[in-house]
Amino acid sequence: GNYAGALRPQVHFSPPQGFMNDPNGMFVDANGTWHLYYQYNPTALVAGNQHWGHATSKDLYTWTNQPIALYPPNNTSGIFSGSAVIDTNNTSGFFNNSKTGVVAIYTLNTPTEQTQEIAYSYDGGYTFQPYARNPVLRIGSNQFRDPKVIWYQDHWVMVVAYSVDFTIGIYTSPNLKDWSFASNFTNHGLLGLQYECPNLVQMPIKGTTDSAWVMYISINPGAPLGGSTGQYFVGNFNGTHFTTFDNAARLPDFGKDNYAGQWFYGTKAGEDPVSIAWASNWQYTNVVPTGSEGWRSIMSLPRRNYLDKATRIGWVLASEPYDLSPILGSTLLQSANLFNNSATLDYSSVSSGAIYFRANITYPSTLAFSASTPATLNFTFSSSASGECMQGGYFFSSDNAGAVWVDRSTVKGFQNPFFTDKFSLTQAGPPLATVIEGVIDRSVMEVFIDNGHFSSTSVFYPKEKLDQMFIGTGGLAEGMKVEIGVWGLKGTWK
Ligand code: FRU
Repeated sequence: GNYAGALRPQVHFSPPQGFMNDPNGMFVDANGTWHLYYQYNPTALVAGNQHWGHATSKDLYTWTNQPIALYPPNNTSGIFSGSAVIDTNNTSGFFNNSKTGVVAIYTLNTPTEQTQEIAYSYDGGYTFQPYARNPVLRIGSNQFRDPKVIWYQDHWVMVVAYSVDFTIGIYTSPNLKDWSFASNFTNHGLLGLQYECPNLVQMPIKGTTDSAWVMYISINPGAPLGGSTGQYFVGNFNGTHFTTFDNAARLPDFGKDNYAGQWFYGTKAGEDPVSIAWASNWQYTNVVPTGSEGWRSIMSLPRRNYLDKATRIGWVLASEPYDLSPILGSTLLQSANLFNNSATLDYSSVSSGAIYFRANITYPSTLAFSASTPATLNFTFSSSASGECMQGGYFFSSDNAGAVWVDRSTVKGFQNPFFTDKFSLTQAGPPLATVIEGVIDRSVMEVFIDNGHFSSTSVFYPKEKLDQMFIGTGGLAEGMKVEIGVWGLKGTWK
């Protein structure tokens, strides 16, 4: 692949060429190699002809493209989304004495049916053999897909979408080959047209040694902002049934480009679960202008996840960038106290064009905001050539209604109807945010509030390269401190 294009992100994953959608089959092996598979059309710039592309990484930022891992058996079928596990105990019987056997569990899509199939790998996930007795799960439906498998105490658990029935089926198996129906999770939260790509994840609860379970479901179309979105529920899982604590559907990301998220299999007990989502939206993914560079779609940053239950809205699934230290580059601003003040940075010398910024905010014990001036922190990334910009900000508030916003309507390079409408994404946040951080990477921006309590993923397509950053505050209350750092990020693609 040629990763030099002006719109190519330099610290995010994008496919060598062709079209990508959902992350699939993600696992981390015993040597600490992260495997990412993805819905891949290697022969066109739109969805179709689905394969599993494959890439590996030691740090989740520096990726090596690997040969395609799964091919459809003929030209009318596709290898749709699914997951992978390490069958350490050889429950499947595929692996003799090896502890490193990998089994992929995916949907075979044919013109008449969607069935769940498995394939096994003797070489740690680089090449796969389809199981001779596929399918392993078939209900005679053409809307039954996206199996995600985890290990629970003494058995395998699959969540799989009966898409147009707004139902997630839970199945169990001793061996990945024989599956028994256990329960359904039906008609919860946003329905949209259909459910897709479920996940069931045991998640640590911040500040405790406890955990709870997250049921994550993608819907498309029908997102509040249009097109596709994820949503999640927090509750208990007993090995066969998932029950929510409060039946609330919450959005893991308030941007428009975060879909079909998946959690890696194999992260160790005591470590936070790690996820990656597809940073795009079915509403426009087939027409975005990166096609002129020969590729379409980006994965989100890898995210560390945990639950916090002590928030204004109760349970929150937090999502913050995975350890960025391997890619942190030149310091553009450090420990700058921007109290009702601002900085403008020319970052044209950062060759990746990728930036990480972070504001740490502290408050005095009595806080008096001005009645006339809104208290804000704003950040803008603009082009010295065209003046267009990608921007966002935060409103501080003493009345429990802080808000974060991101606006890509002032970026000029893409005239799709869903982009020309001005939309300013706002999301109520904590009134007193203590961390505001973000990564911008040529054609994608991710913003995080309070260690990932709120996150937003947005793609954007500038006409000219963005190379100037403005960051500043106004209307802050006496005694507040806003300490800002800005770093260039080291590109990871050759
Ligand atoms: C979600 C999805 C899945 C399906 C795959 C096909 O984006 O529609 O339900 O398996 O994409 O590429």
